[in-house]
Amino acid sequence: MTTVLVTGAGVRLGRAIAEAFLADGATVFTHYNRSVPDHGEPVQADLTDMDSLSALCEKVGQVDVLVNNAAGWDKVPLADVTPETYDWMQALNTRAPYFLIQKLAPTCVINLLDVEVERPVGGYSHYTVSKAGLEGMTRALAKELAPRTRVNAIAPGTVLMPEGMSAEVQERLRLATPLGRFGGAGPIAQAALYLASASWVTGQTLHVDGGRRLA
Ligand SMILES: NC(=O)c1ccc[n+]([C@@H]2O[C@H](COP(=O)([O-])OP(=O)(O)OC[C@H]3O[C@@H](n4cnc5c(N)ncnc54)[C@H](OP(=O)(O)O)[C@@H]3O)[C@@H](O)[C@H]2O)c1
Repeated sequence: MTTVLVTGAGVRLGRAIAEAFLADGATVFTHYNRSVPDHGEPVQADLTDMDSLSALCEKVGQVDVLVNNAAGWDKVPLADVTPETYDWMQALNTRAPYFLIQKLAPTCVINLLDVEVERPVGGYSHYTVSKAGLEGMTRALAKELAPRTRVNAIAPGTVLMPEGMSAEVQERLRLATPLGRFGGAGPIAQAALYLASASWVTGQTLHVDGGRRLA
């Protein structure tokens, strides 16, 4: 049976991805930091803390599929980013996926990126830098870890609204999406299942964004 670890599996996209793997018959470790999942095998860790990350890896042992979904996201103009907030974003979005791959040695890795890497909207530079690092990591480790391990990524467009986003901004984003609607979590979970089974695909980013990258 396939064993999967989904980070940030208590809410939103991570939750939907974990549920898709569970429905597919996998054993799923559902990682969380604060939002305790009510599905799969919950395992807690603050992924910005290397001791906590290492303890998680010891608890979980080896997995077949690692989904690096947990992430921080914040709108902060360049002038207001401090070394501390910059390092926090890197630790969660880039360093944690890297060392989870090293310590868990999965045979399949799926990294969650963002259309923001190719189509920045402005004001999220420290987030974008962290996701760009994850994108480079996807290709570098796909090469280094082949043929044992496949490393791929999903770059979602806006699929679920962040809390508090105004109706006006939502409408602007919708109009900037060629397919004319938000995707919801379903297409991202579907893409994760595809990449987990795509045995001759590695080093790829699947853009699941309603065409936003092209607009
Ligand atoms: N939503 C979108 O439209 C969208 C668009 C593009 C890309 N993405 C990417 O898709 C992924 C999921 O997005 P989302 O919107 O579902 O995320 P989200 O709602 O912002 O959830 C963030 C997740 O990260 C976890 N997390 C936060 N701080 C943590 C820490 N210190 N240690 C461990 N885990 C921590 C949270 O866990 P707890 O709740 O347990 O604390 C939560 O599960 C992210 O990688 C995001 O960048 C999302």
